[in-house]
Amino acid sequence: ARIRRYKWEVKYEYKSPDCFKKLVITINGRTPGPTILAQQGDTVIVELKNSLLTENVAIHWHGIRQIGTPWSDGTEGVTQCPILPGDTFKYQFVVDRPGTYMYHAHYGMQREAGLYGSIRVSLPDGESEPFSYDYDRSIILNDWYHKSTYEQATGLSSIPFVWVGEPQSLLIQGKGKFNCSRLTSPSLEPGACNATNPECSPYVLTVIPGKTYRLRIGSLTALSALNFEIEGHNMTVVEADGHYVEPFVVKNLFIYSGETYSVLVKADQDPSRNYWATTNVVSRPPNTTTGLAIFNYYPNHRLRSPPTVPTTGPIWNDTAPRFAQSVAIKAHRDFIHTPPPTSDRTIVLLNTQNEINGFRRWSVNNVSFNLPHTPYLIALKERLNHVFDQTPPPNGYDFMNYDIYSKAPNANATASNSIYRLDFNTTVDVILQNANTMTASNSETHPWHLHGHDFWVLGYGMGKFDMYNDPKKYNLVNPIMKNTVPVHPYGWTAFRFRSDNPGTWAFHCHIESHFYMGMGVVFEEGIEKVGKLPNSIMGCGETKGFRRP
Ligand code: C2O
Ligand code: CU
Repeated sequence: ARIRRYKWEVKYEYKSPDCFKKLVITINGRTPGPTILAQQGDTVIVELKNSLLTENVAIHWHGIRQIGTPWSDGTEGVTQCPILPGDTFKYQFVVDRPGTYMYHAHYGMQREAGLYGSIRVSLPDGESEPFSYDYDRSIILNDWYHKSTYEQATGLSSIPFVWVGEPQSLLIQGKGKFNCSRLTSPSLEPGACNATNPECSPYVLTVIPGKTYRLRIGSLTALSALNFEIEGHNMTVVEADGHYVEPFVVKNLFIYSGETYSVLVKADQDPSRNYWATTNVVSRPPNTTTGLAIFNYYPNHRLRSPPTVPTTGPIWNDTAPRFAQSVAIKAHRDFIHTPPPTSDRTIVLLNTQNEINGFRRWSVNNVSFNLPHTPYLIALKERLNHVFDQTPPPNGYDFMNYDIYSKAPNANATASNSIYRLDFNTTVDVILQNANTMTASNSETHPWHLHGHDFWVLGYGMGKFDMYNDPKKYNLVNPIMKNTVPVHPYGWTAFRFRSDNPGTWAFHCHIESHFYMGMGVVFEEGIEKVGKLPNSIMGCGETKGFRRP
């Protein structure tokens, strides 16, 4: 195993990813940032210099479990204090499994300012994947807002509430195209939106006819659920969140924020032209134009427009095919990790939208999550009990009486920073239950992401989870392991994991504004087994005294 060292400088720069010029956060001048390339068992060291001038930062390594290094998870308020402007912080962790992962900011709503990238972990020399391909490419899908994260965060935490709205464009590997003629504001400086700026020329994936490409596709959207397709080409899904999938073929890949997939695509169509690769919003009334990239058959010119009109994707509110794809993802037959047959504890988490003291919030079992000023990892390890609410949050909701289909005021919700403390080395089931929002006849898709773990996806259902009958239908034979799962509108999702990774782990909706509005929880397990905390994570809240020489 080797050490992979990266030196990154994070700063604000003017960029025009979709032709509209705005301040974005770059790593060494780029967004998306550099791809981390490593082999299973390698140690990754990232020395991160915060040059944001007046803003803190923290970076999360999404999908990396941080076994033995919970302080390197990069989750501000949970595993570390934020990195101050001018400071350099060293993240160090082992990438213990091959697969496709990502990294992104985990402080406020900073992720959507452009601070993100890919992590690709290959197999050790001499080992091979259960599928073959000629070339390997990483692509991150995103949505993009023109307003700053501050304007958005301020609106979300104001009375009256100001919703962020739909994104202005969709980015494919950091590139999109906003139609500048839609801008009407006379106050815009000349050149603020320029369709001919090379920074917003589309992402081009050049392929050699007859060759097979492994596309590692991740989504880090702030809000949107996406459909990804390559005109005229089938995709074979072979990996999900770092686990091999029993292969299946799709024309459309539905992908939710926080998920990664590998698909195999063969360049087997008419090679005399190029094709569109597109992203479209699903699950919300689309108000964002199609994201476009060019699937370029060599030797056609890379920017030659395909002769066709790009697709606008499947019908946005047809949940059935999305639900079907979720259910279709099973572990590869030669790589089945059998889950424990029973669990020691079941936690049911009802997802609702609420009003708390006049503020619009998201809640879980009527508790809307707030981060404490002192990170949990330090608070628990140093026994600073007073820094967060010690009353455990509820294990479930009022199953008998709660109507998931009606617009509920949910007036009795509270905001809290309490956490779930799990017995170490036990088996935990989590059931995420979706419901109606505060808008009549509306239920959204929420992709939930668990830090520090992979879990077995036991099942998905429509309607209210039935505690008696639904567990009998769990897939205990070949469930896929993932770190992010969607909860479909008015549906439920069940998964199982082992509480075997000492630390404090965030579990939250990966929609940036939803987590910001309280849609998350934190799990603690085996805190007494966590090794000595590095001084570098201290410094904020009540942790100042714990900086030791
Ligand atoms: Cu990728 Cu806590 O998030
Ligand atoms: Cu959500």
